[in-house]
Amino acid sequence: MKNKKEIDLTISNFIGKKGSLIPLLQEIQKLEGYLPKETLRYLSQKTKIKLARIYGVATFYSMFRLKPQGKHIIRVCKGTACHVSGAEDIGKAIRKELKLGELEDTTDDGLFTVMEVACLGCCSLSPVMMVDDNTHGKLTPEKVTEFLQKYK
Ligand code: FES
Repeated sequence: MKNKKEIDLTISNFIGKKGSLIPLLQEIQKLEGYLPKETLRYLSQKTKIKLARIYGVATFYSMFRLKPQGKHIIRVCKGTACHVSGAEDIGKAIRKELKLGELEDTTDDGLFTVMEVACLGCCSLSPVMMVDDNTHGKLTPEKVTEFLQKYK
């Protein structure tokens, strides 16, 4: 655990308070960058909150991450212009290429994290995705595969 001292302090601030699990997890994620297994186990021991309950909350809310963020961040636009231009197929093609399950956002090799965003501000290029700081527009599922190969 990287930030044990700060985590202990956070836990002591919340311990015994009702409805504290979500803010606790948010604080821990802020400190660690994600929610590592060992930290969740530690949290369960310290707070006496069942580990299954902690996982239930951590997996229910999309704001929580159970893996560290990938080396490359892919932002897939799901805004209106992109939606009507086939953003859903683009999202599917990305997930297929990266072999990501429906509830996963980061590849096992830690290379990519996929996020959905509302609008990337370049609707005339829809459908659009960004890989790190690079914008790729007028996408097709075939182009997605081609672009992602370059980052591997
Ligand atoms: S809706 Fe996709 S860039 Fe604006």
